[in-house]
Amino acid sequence: MGKATSDFIRVASTSEIPEGKMRRVIVDSLQVLVANVKGKYYAIGNVCTHLGGPLDKGILEGHEVECPLHRSHFDVTNGQVKRGPAMRPEPVYDVKVESGSILVRPKQ
Ligand code: FES
Repeated sequence: MGKATSDFIRVASTSEIPEGKMRRVIVDSLQVLVANVKGKYYAIGNVCTHLGGPLDKGILEGHEVECPLHRSHFDVTNGQVKRGPAMRPEPVYDVKVESGSILVRPKQ
């Protein structure tokens, strides 16, 4: 049985994350990175799978975020590693927008 959509958690208002920006939020006590790429929101884990760097302190370019510690790149649309040293992808979260609010839940 899948979980109900009520598991979505409001993490920010759309105005708090303008196009080309990203922000760290907390979902189920986990750090999540929410990024706005060309007006669409994406969410992946915020803790770098290499050595735990804070991705929200890195650089968002297009749909790739660069870790501030050793410059691994992750695709925010699917969590995949685009450049090492990281080897493992980030977890991906479902995102939806309702009435100017960004809602996130673990992918299911
Ligand atoms: S901790 Fe992110 S690249 Fe090393």
